[in-house]
Amino acid sequence: SSSLSGFGAGKVILLGEHSVVYGYPALAGPLSRGVRARGEASNKCQLVIPEALTAEQRKVLKAAFGRAMAACGEPGVKVSFDTDLPLSMGLGSSGALSVACARVLLQAAGRKASATEVAAVAWEMEQEFHGTPSGVDHTTSAMEQLILYRRKPGAEQGRAKVVESPKPVKLVVVMAGARSPTKLTVGALRERQKRWSERYQRIFREIGLLASEGAEAVEEGDLEALGDVMNVNHGLLAALGLSSPGLDDMVHRLRNMGALGAKLTGAGGDGGAVIGLFHDTGPAVHELTRLGIRCFDSQLAGPRSEGTRG
Ligand code: PMV
Repeated sequence: SSSLSGFGAGKVILLGEHSVVYGYPALAGPLSRGVRARGEASNKCQLVIPEALTAEQRKVLKAAFGRAMAACGEPGVKVSFDTDLPLSMGLGSSGALSVACARVLLQAAGRKASATEVAAVAWEMEQEFHGTPSGVDHTTSAMEQLILYRRKPGAEQGRAKVVESPKPVKLVVVMAGARSPTKLTVGALRERQKRWSERYQRIFREIGLLASEGAEAVEEGDLEALGDVMNVNHGLLAALGLSSPGLDDMVHRLRNMGALGAKLTGAGGDGGAVIGLFHDTGPAVHELTRLGIRCFDSQLAGPRSEGTRG
């Protein structure tokens, strides 16, 4: 085990963020961008923590790795990582890191690195990063397929159903705002829903229905229907207080550029990412880049044409 390597894909939530925390389904798929972890044989099990992190981030990262390490019996491996994923943008960077580390640790321990095993170890890390996450991030990353994910509140692991797509599902992902810590938006929403439970539960339930309808639209190859579901989902996320002028503005821009649907993705709040669904992502990426707006495109599901990736 002199040189081990593991990749954890970033993820995009197409439908159902936040309501997934309350037990409703979400539709999510992997990005080609993610976190690459590498392992070298070592006399103890350790993680190389990047210099650039704050004291608090180092502490959390150390604690998270400690849990994954313990779950794998502390194999003798020194793990380092790098990423091409924008951080704290609702693109699942912590889930991707958890999956990448889990893959290397399991290999180092001489254990099977099936998607289920990887997800179980990554889950240890994710709980340290996020407190009570739904698990959609690391599950999508470990499975590397478009999934309809659901976790009943209180249940240990969520369930994922692979959603097959006869058509390419292509997105433009735009970094529309400042960094947005998931813990804050999830916590603030939790307070509102505690106080006005019925009103918020009604909206969560409706978003859950949209996620299921979206999965059906994907299976039927009906991208127009999927786009419409995304637009409605964005409206309901705004109703929950999870959008912002910057995110709304980008959603409208993408629709004006011909997106079949556009919405915020991930935690929302003051910043984070916005996604647009397109038949052809090229012109929108070109136009946004020309305007100096950070974006990239990614195919989440469906048949891939020769020579393209992600
Ligand atoms: O912002 P991200 O990539 O961590 O995604 C958050 C998704 C939420 O539904 C808001 C939280 C969760 O635990 O599922």
